[in-house]
Amino acid sequence: MRSVIDILDLSVEELDELVACANDIIANPEKYAHKCAGKKLATLFFEPSTRTRLSFEAAMYELGGNVLSMSDAKSSSAAKGESVADTAKTISCYADIIAMRHPKEGAPLVASMNATVPVINAGDGGHNHPTQTLADLLTISREKGRFNDITVGFCGDLKFGRTVHSLISALSRYKNVKFVLISPEELKLPSYVKKDIIQKNNLEYVQTTDLESVMPELDILYMTRVQRERFFNEEDYLRLKDSYILTPEKLETAKKDLCVMHPLPRVNEISVAVDDDPRACYFKQVLNGKFMRMALILKLLEVK
Ligand code: CP
Repeated sequence: MRSVIDILDLSVEELDELVACANDIIANPEKYAHKCAGKKLATLFFEPSTRTRLSFEAAMYELGGNVLSMSDAKSSSAAKGESVADTAKTISCYADIIAMRHPKEGAPLVASMNATVPVINAGDGGHNHPTQTLADLLTISREKGRFNDITVGFCGDLKFGRTVHSLISALSRYKNVKFVLISPEELKLPSYVKKDIIQKNNLEYVQTTDLESVMPELDILYMTRVQRERFFNEEDYLRLKDSYILTPEKLETAKKDLCVMHPLPRVNEISVAVDDDPRACYFKQVLNGKFMRMALILKLLEVK
């Protein structure tokens, strides 16, 4: 039995398999319509979510399975003080696989150590979000046709943005990937990600506060929301929240085949006017997330 807590729990070969499986699901959905008949997915979300929880649930339904959903921590026995470990042991009695989001870093790992069914980390605090990375990888694969030889700009809240940490981890295993890290000083990439992933793998990177100056060199621009829920005080959030706002004018110097990504939800960091630009890929990312979660559920449930 395997869980996925960190994107590095999956080898490069397994990521390729998942991308291939997702592409096959897109091409032949009817082949997969009953693959998980009789199986149940439990979605345990202790933090708000639209895309991740509903795409997991849509994924399981499209595989012919069923869903047990806990979308509000206040309505579960966690509100009475039940531990993550006991919750995981309990849900293992009802479901075949668990997707868990939790505000505390490491909570899905604790769940996986206590559950008797696979656990998928659906986002833990400011730490990791591996299934968003699966959505991102399918998007990059379909839009760019490669993971090697790309320059990826990450812009916004690189400190708390867990999707950034997971995608950097995943891309660190490919060749000739250059990272351009664009953020205010206070929201720079955590040093553990820089040291343990970027520097350890001898990857090329630059850090800047100026999005416009680096725009022409990017193949991918990954915008992120400033994570209000992780700030200790509102004043700092208000000061930093609009540090970067992508507009059609700012895209004028970008490559014609730039891929603009965002894990969503967006607040203000991409102007709605950018949505009509063919380079805007963030709603494709949403759909790709469902297909990659279908592929991951099949893999972890060992469905052929
Ligand atoms: N990208 C993402 O995790 O979105 P949700 O918070 O809506 O699940």
